[in-house]
Amino acid sequence: MSGKGGVGKSTVAAVLASLYAREGRKVIAVDADPASSLPAALGVPEAEREGIVPLSRMLDLIEERTGARPGNAPGLFSLNPRVDDIADKYAVRTAGGVQLLVLGTIRSPGSGCFCPESSLLKALLKHLVLDEEHVLVLDMEAGLEHLGRSTIQAVDVLLVVVEPGRRSVDTASRIAAMARELGVRKVFAVLNKVAEPEQVDEIVRLLRTSSLECLAAVPYDERLVRADLAGAPAMASGAVDALDALSALRQRIDAR
Ligand SMILES: Nc1ncnc2c1ncn2[C@@H]1O[C@H](COP(=O)(O)OP(=O)(O)OP(=O)(O)O)[C@@H](O)[C@H]1O
Ligand SMILES: [Mg+2]
Repeated sequence: MSGKGGVGKSTVAAVLASLYAREGRKVIAVDADPASSLPAALGVPEAEREGIVPLSRMLDLIEERTGARPGNAPGLFSLNPRVDDIADKYAVRTAGGVQLLVLGTIRSPGSGCFCPESSLLKALLKHLVLDEEHVLVLDMEAGLEHLGRSTIQAVDVLLVVVEPGRRSVDTASRIAAMARELGVRKVFAVLNKVAEPEQVDEIVRLLRTSSLECLAAVPYDERLVRADLAGAPAMASGAVDALDALSALRQRIDAR
C-alpha cells in the first residue's frame, strides 16, 4: 500500500488485512510507516498500542541478530540475519486475527541508511514478501526505499491509494512509474474518499493517462474518521458502502 500522506493507506491496509483474516488466511500486516497508524486502524486498544516497541528500537534483538548494536560506532554486521522467527515472536495479534508488526523509524542521516537496524528490517521484509504461507499487507510511506530490489520484484500487487485531487494523482503516477521500473508487475490505483460520484470519472481518466487502472472507488464516510478518532478498527466503523467497496477490491485483487 502506497500513496501520498493521509489518503487512507492505513485504513485500506487494515480493512484488507482483516478481510483476508476473516477468510481464514494467515495474515501479517506490517506497519512500515514511521508515522505509525496501522495498529489503531486495526483496532489495537490504546493501552496495548502504547506498549508496542517498533522493531527498529529493539536494540538487543538487532544486536543479537546482526552482531552490532544500533547507534554504536559502525563496525561489521550481518547482512543476512536470521529473521524467520520474528513474526511469531514479536507480532501483536489483533482481535481480528491479524498478526501485526511495527517496524518504526530508522534513524539515518539521509536515505539509504546502511546500519544494523536497516539490515534486519530489509532481511525481514524480504523473508515476509517471499513467504508463501501468509498474506502480507505492507503499509508503506510513499517511497519503496525500505525494500531491496529483489524484494520489490517479489511483491504481487502494489496498490496506490489516491484521493480526489491532482496532487494525490501526481504522487500516484510517480510511485507507479518508480515501482514499474523496479519490476513490480501489477500496480493499481484505489480511489478513496470519493465525495461526489462525478469525481470518479474524472480521476479515473487522469489515472489512465498514467496507465494506472483504478480497481476500486471507495466513498467518503464520516464514520471512518470517527472510528479513527476513537481508535476503533476501521472494520467496525459501520461505513457500510466504503467497506463494501473494499470487499469488492479484495475480490478484484485475486481476479488480476
Ligand atoms: N473513505 C474514507 N472516508 C472518510 N475518511 C476516511 C476514508 N479513508 C480514510 N479516512 C480517514 O482519513 C484519515 C487518514 O487515513 P489513514 O490514516 O488511513 O491515511 P494514511 O494514508 O495511512 O495516512 P498517513 O500518510 O498519515 O499514514 C483518517 O482519519 C481516516 O479515518
Ligand atoms: Mg498511514
